[in-house]
Amino acid sequence: MPEVLLIKDYAQQPAAWAAAFADFDLEVRDWDAVFGGGDGGDGGDGDGDGVDGDGRGDGDGDGGDGDGDGVDGDGDGDSRGGRGAGALAPAEIDYALVWQPAPGALARLPNLKLIFSLGAGIDHLAGDGVLPPGVPVLRMVDAQLTAGMTEYVVYHALRFHRAMPAYEAQQRRAEWRLLPQVAAAERRIGILGLGVLGGAAARALATLNFDVAGWSRGPKDLGIPSFAGAGELPALLARTDILVCLLPLTAATAGILCAANFARLPAGACVINAGRGGHLLEADLLDALERGHLAGAALDVFANEPLPPGNPLWSHPRVAITPHAASKTLPASSARHVIDNIRRFRAGRPVGPLADFARGY
Ligand SMILES: NC(=O)c1ccc[n+]([C@@H]2O[C@H](COP(=O)([O-])OP(=O)(O)OC[C@H]3O[C@@H](n4cnc5c(N)ncnc54)[C@H](OP(=O)(O)O)[C@@H]3O)[C@@H](O)[C@H]2O)c1
Repeated sequence: MPEVLLIKDYAQQPAAWAAAFADFDLEVRDWDAVFGGGDGGDGGDGDGDGVDGDGRGDGDGDGGDGDGDGVDGDGDGDSRGGRGAGALAPAEIDYALVWQPAPGALARLPNLKLIFSLGAGIDHLAGDGVLPPGVPVLRMVDAQLTAGMTEYVVYHALRFHRAMPAYEAQQRRAEWRLLPQVAAAERRIGILGLGVLGGAAARALATLNFDVAGWSRGPKDLGIPSFAGAGELPALLARTDILVCLLPLTAATAGILCAANFARLPAGACVINAGRGGHLLEADLLDALERGHLAGAALDVFANEPLPPGNPLWSHPRVAITPHAASKTLPASSARHVIDNIRRFRAGRPVGPLADFARGY
């Protein structure tokens, strides 16, 4: 009997998930095959860097009892390995690929061997009682997720660099006016977070000749100026025209996009936040924009998602908003990471990268 991988995002794109694992000795099933009765987690507005929101599964029912609410194996390719469709018993699950599971849900899977995060961040797994003790948790590293984030950052950096928001405003007024053009080499971009995503964005921006520097917890050797630790943040900010946040949300990074740090940026700087909404103090941003200290912002993540319709950021003329869409985990590419690690686990070799909940990422 094949081992079973339960996927929280499965029902969003069953054919894609089934195809992604088609050549691997594993049965892949929807989260609802176990938790169909409710529980199991929010799905809710879901997204994150992981998955598209589905608005399902946010009840608090007991789940796990296999009462037939799960996927139905109706030709979507969601039931393989000859076991047939329908519900699964919690004890049948070997691996879980999850986004925002409800507290206690994973603990109901007594034979769980590995937990994979559907997103690059692990903050969605950090709540009390979300994780069962003793089961390794792997971060998502997905080439397409990284590529998507690089596209998002390069797009917005170029948009600010080439004064596109100002030109778009001029067009609305039918105003023909040339604005100053600055060479990329003279545009200083500062990236907060030089991990998988920040490092890739830094490399892409450097290729375009931008004057890129970055900030991380420890020093980095990426061929760009590297600033490390809280003590060196002011120096990074002082040489930054376009600030990009690609940090994980931790106790140390929450609220880092705040009035004090905006004040350290040169006048006219722009901010791109694709980390987490908890990094940004929205009132501080609005104030800095209103005073003209900041020229613009591109925001993909928010403290409250979905961003409420009445939030003033929606209508601010110098704020560009996307609905936590900067980059998604895609089945085909993320499955390679999952398969590689399950192979390693079966062979008794180390798996990773492992989430480190003590440091928070
Ligand atoms: N908007 C979206 O669609 C989307 C998609 C994916 C991810 N994300 C966000 O992007 C984040 C980063 O992902 P990743 O894969 O690049 O993470 P990662 O590889 O773990 O990199 C995190 C980086 O942040 C640095 N860092 C952490 N805490 C710090 C601190 N207190 N001070 C200074 N630097 C600190 C780390 O420094 P060290 O290198 O020294 O450890 C590392 O360079 C995720 O956690 C998630 O929140 C958003």
